[in-house]
Amino acid sequence: MKRDLLCILDLSGDEILHLLEWAVKLKDLQRRGIPHRPLVGKTLGLLLEKPSTRTRVSFQAGMYQLGGEVIFMSPSELQIGRGETIADTARVLSRYLDIIALRTYSHKTIEEFASHASIPVINALSDLYHPCQILADLVTIKESLGDWKGIKVAFIGDGNNVAASWANLAARLEMEVWFATPPGYEPPHDVVERAQKEGARIRVVHEAFQAVEGAQVVYTDVWVSMGQDGEREERLRAFAPFRVTPQLMEKANPGAIFMHCLPAHRGEEVTDEVIDGPASVVWDQAENRLHLQKALVLMLLEQI
Ligand code: CP
Ligand code: NVA
Repeated sequence: MKRDLLCILDLSGDEILHLLEWAVKLKDLQRRGIPHRPLVGKTLGLLLEKPSTRTRVSFQAGMYQLGGEVIFMSPSELQIGRGETIADTARVLSRYLDIIALRTYSHKTIEEFASHASIPVINALSDLYHPCQILADLVTIKESLGDWKGIKVAFIGDGNNVAASWANLAARLEMEVWFATPPGYEPPHDVVERAQKEGARIRVVHEAFQAVEGAQVVYTDVWVSMGQDGEREERLRAFAPFRVTPQLMEKANPGAIFMHCLPAHRGEEVTDEVIDGPASVVWDQAENRLHLQKALVLMLLEQI
């Protein structure tokens, strides 16, 4: 049966560890210039409703490095933009491609596509989740801190798609995740509740300094996600006390790292001193998208 990755909860804890192990192996092979091309003859489709720099280029570069091909599609250039249904598009693309990554507004679009596709479907970000990001971030945490077991992650800012994926991850691995958001911007209640039912150690608070206390990872993301530009002014007002500053970083555990999925809105959710400072691992995060997604594609195509 085909496997999809729509949400981190689609994976078991052991599968996540397997992916990480392979991401590290593939990174090492690439660093040493050793070619690894098990996907010759395989094609990944990339269908993106929203802009992307990291996700698009890392999937493309990763697929090429593995010997495969990529076909990029924007909905406005497909018949889907003229009313062909998601289900019919999924059925047809499944006849050409071996695997597909989708970036959408509504998470339901990805679910619907996946339910009609006969090839593996990867969520390359939806309004609800961003699983590839958080899985890749685990590689960075392991490289920077040695391990993630028992760590405390403080997610500061908007309870958005990236935050929701952190909640999912807390249900799979032994770590504590605190969210500090303005009231009304918490991660979706049902996502947090489900994770907690599955054993996740999650706290939601409304004070950034409280959340970072004892944290080894301070994480943030933009205050205005793609598709929310109409709410920009009210969001900037609500999130002002949630900026990651050197003063906030000082309250975290000594040696704490700063993480951001990028793109950053410098001066909004994070200051230049922090993102360009010694605690920042954001460029490693961006690089590790490449290695983790190569492992993910290999796993979904049953190559590892
Ligand atoms: N972090 C991330 O997914 O970046 P892009 O939007 O550039 O793909
Ligand atoms: N929360 C952001 C993440 C971008 C990678 C957004 O959805 O725009």
